[in-house]
Parts: sequence; C-alpha cells; structure tokens
Amino acid sequence: MEATKLEPLFNLQELEAKLNGNGRARANGLTGWDILSVDQFDRDKLAYIFGRAEEMREMVERVHGVDLLKGRVLACLFYEPSTRTSASFIAAMERLGGSVIPITQGVQFSSVSKGETLADTIRTLEQYADVIVLRHPEIGSARMAAEAAGVPVINAGDGPGEHPTQALLDLFTIKEEMGRIDGLKVAMVGDLRFGRTVHSLTKLLLHFDVSLRFVSPEILRMPLKIMNEVRDKGLDARETHDVADVIENADVLYVTRVQKERFSDLDQYNEVKDQYIITPDLMRQAKEKMVVMHPLPRVGEISPEVDADPRAAYFRQVQNGMYIRMALLAAVLGKA
Ligand code: NCD
Repeated sequence: MEATKLEPLFNLQELEAKLNGNGRARANGLTGWDILSVDQFDRDKLAYIFGRAEEMREMVERVHGVDLLKGRVLACLFYEPSTRTSASFIAAMERLGGSVIPITQGVQFSSVSKGETLADTIRTLEQYADVIVLRHPEIGSARMAAEAAGVPVINAGDGPGEHPTQALLDLFTIKEEMGRIDGLKVAMVGDLRFGRTVHSLTKLLLHFDVSLRFVSPEILRMPLKIMNEVRDKGLDARETHDVADVIENADVLYVTRVQKERFSDLDQYNEVKDQYIITPDLMRQAKEKMVVMHPLPRVGEISPEVDADPRAAYFRQVQNGMYIRMALLAAVLGKA
C-alpha cells in the first residue's frame, strides 16, 4: 500500500527564516549589547523586543524549540536566590537550541566561596560562554561585570538597583493583557524602596502616556531620584499609603513583596510586612477589566483566593518572561 503523504502542519523553514530576521535590521542594534538598565530601551527597541517575544511564543506553541542558538553557551551566575529568573533564562536558551552553565543556587560550591573576585569569575566564564547572566546583591555589580567581560552581560538584578529583563516582561505583560500601554493607570503597591522591579518598570513606563500611583508605607517610598524623573516627564503621578485610594481606578495593580533581605532592622520589617494584602473583597472594588501582577515570589501580599480571578495575571506574567528572555538572548547574540 502506498504510504499516505502527510502535509506538514506548517513550514519549519519559513518559521526559522522568520526567526532569523527575513532581512530586518540586525537585532535592532542590540547585537553584542550588555543589558544593564532599562535606560538603554526606547519605544523602538521595546516594540522590537515585544514583536520578537510574540514570535517566540508562536514558535514555542507550534514546535517547542528551534536551533537558532545552537552551539551557543550561556553562563548563568546567581549570587542571590532565584527561581523564575534563572529557570526562564535556562529554558529560553534551551528552547533556542543553546546550552547553559548554571552557577545558580550552588554559588557556595564555586570558587566565589574561596574569595575569588567578581571580575575574575566573569573573566573565567567568558572563556566558555557567549553571554553571561548575572544576579548579585550589590548595585552596579552588573556594570562592573560588563566592564570586565568581552561578551554581553545581562543584569538579572543588582541588589536594590535594577532588574531590566523583569521590567521588560512586566511591560510586555501589560501590553498583552490590556492591549495597550498608553492611557493606562498603573498602581504599584508594596516595597517601592528596595524593590528593584518597580524601579525598572517605572522608568520604562516613562516612555508612555500613563498615570502612576505609588502605594507604600512611609519608609518604603519610591526613591526620590526616580520620583524626580517621573515629575520631569510631567506625568500624572501620586503617592499614597492606602490601596483603597487607587483600587477603583487602576488598570494595572502591580503588587510587590517587602524585601526582607534588605532590612538591617527586622523589627522594622515586621512592622510593614503585612500592610497590604490583596483579597477577593478588595478585588470587588476594582475595575472589571483590570490586571493584577506580581514579579513573585509572593509571601502573603496576594491571597491565594485571588488566583482564580481572571484578572490575576501573575502566572501568565511568568510565562511571558521566557519569551522576553528568548527575544533578548537572540538579539544580543546577533540572531535578529
Ligand atoms: C524579583 C526580584 O528578584 O527582584 N523576583 C523576580 O525576579 N521575579 C522580586 C522579588 O524578589 O521580590
């Protein structure tokens, strides 16, 4: 009997050609870049990365992975705990056909514990890897690593400083969930002082016509430097201590954990840690089309009963992180 010829469900070559750029400008100028701060992104670059992330989603849904970064190696160096950021960078690299040296939860087993400097560790890893992702407790550590390295360094969180790739996935999530960014009222709740994700997200939102609401305890207000940038932009922005002031009008409620590890006085942490808890009751006061986000981990700020609410987007946000990181890795490695 003659074998039935199966029609391919889609054209893999076409998909790979699309992922390879189809003649587009090479990675929109991102090739070889270190990604250290959201200050490096304008609306053009954001649109480029978001477009690529959407293509990555499509690709993963259809074929799970491709060989775009075959033979390329990522070193993942984490001096602070991480679940999502490290796992999503690893998944991103592997779905693009590359491989990973993970020095994550086990940093205590590396030469770092013997007293090696960050610069030496970086200069070592670049002998093996084409790109380095770094999380470190000190502000400016990623920049310092980038100066030491000849390969691109991606900042996965420098202490209470920035977390640019998280902010990119956060903004991408807002766009995917709400269909737009301009015109939205975004409320950020919790630890705005030490939370690096809200620092980076606020700076990215300055490229858009948004209203901003900052909800925090007095001791955890958004740093003055960032508030000044917000004011200079002339955006409608207000600070408050009370979620009740913002819940009815917010389009995006971005909730954060109080960053216990940044407190030198634990009594002070205990005083503020449970100040805001998002509950189904509070959600009843919010708009029907609104989105609740959280970079995770949560430690009680959003009650688990909220998870079933279709407005709870924090796990969809996690998935978006992988697509954004796929887009970024492809871009810095020159696969436009
Ligand atoms: C955040 C971080 O590490 O800054 N987590 C993350 O990357 N998803 C938020 C946090 O730890 O509270």
